[in-house]
Amino acid sequence: MKIISTPIELKEYLKNFNKTIGFVPTMGALHEGHITLIKEARKANELVVVSIFVNPTQFLKGEDLDKYPRKDEADKKICELSGVDILFFPDASSIYSKDEVSILAPNVRGFVLEGFSRPGHFSGVLTVVMKLLNIVNPTKAYFGKKDAQQLNLIALMVKQYFMNVEIVGVDTVRDSDGLALSSRNVYLSTKDRKEALKISSSLQTAAKMILKDVVNVENIIKEMREVLNPLEIFYVEILNLDFEIIKEVELGNTVILVEAKVGDTRLLDNIWL
Ligand code: PAF
Repeated sequence: MKIISTPIELKEYLKNFNKTIGFVPTMGALHEGHITLIKEARKANELVVVSIFVNPTQFLKGEDLDKYPRKDEADKKICELSGVDILFFPDASSIYSKDEVSILAPNVRGFVLEGFSRPGHFSGVLTVVMKLLNIVNPTKAYFGKKDAQQLNLIALMVKQYFMNVEIVGVDTVRDSDGLALSSRNVYLSTKDRKEALKISSSLQTAAKMILKDVVNVENIIKEMREVLNPLEIFYVEILNLDFEIIKEVELGNTVILVEAKVGDTRLLDNIWL
């Protein structure tokens, strides 16, 4: 595995590479969810590139940028063992300059749900993803479905900017008790971890109701909120795959999303139906 730390060096290295490239952008602290993304990239491409970059522009003031888990050595090992060809490990000064051209999240889809409670977050995500995609120029780029709104916005950006990359959404990986894997799970105390299960349980409740032919969104959300009680809920929403509000669940075109605070940690999860 080759480790490259500047955009110029990586672009130069890939310049004459005419085969398929699978790209997995990450912020490190890699877990089984990331390994699944890497495996998917490995299956479908000749070269696999992973980036590890804790992107400062997607953190709001007062968020966990400084304490975001960093596990550089363990991450390198994981990448090596997972068959990554190139690990891109830039620092912020090689990605950002003082006077930046702005990429802004769309006014509606970028500022609802997580974008509402974290205004500006998705502009930071889209900016860095645009930069990373331009540096790597991959055939396919892989993102977890757990970050459903992020995935939706990245796919929208790629479409609206006529970019030549296929965005692949990969299913969420869960612990055996149902908790969706996230780098931020390390913040949870034993008590928090138990409480956090309310999030996946609320989604299971919704799935069970839908299996029993309940399709009314208001009724499903009401039950979900009860399961989540007493967690601080940022949102519980049922949307179509264009992220529009719906009144009734439509199988094949519905995503149910939850974000709640457990201890001091915001956790999100969703299911696609
Ligand atoms: O999902 C993440 O880890 C980040 O938001 C991403 C896509 C790597 C951009 O920094």
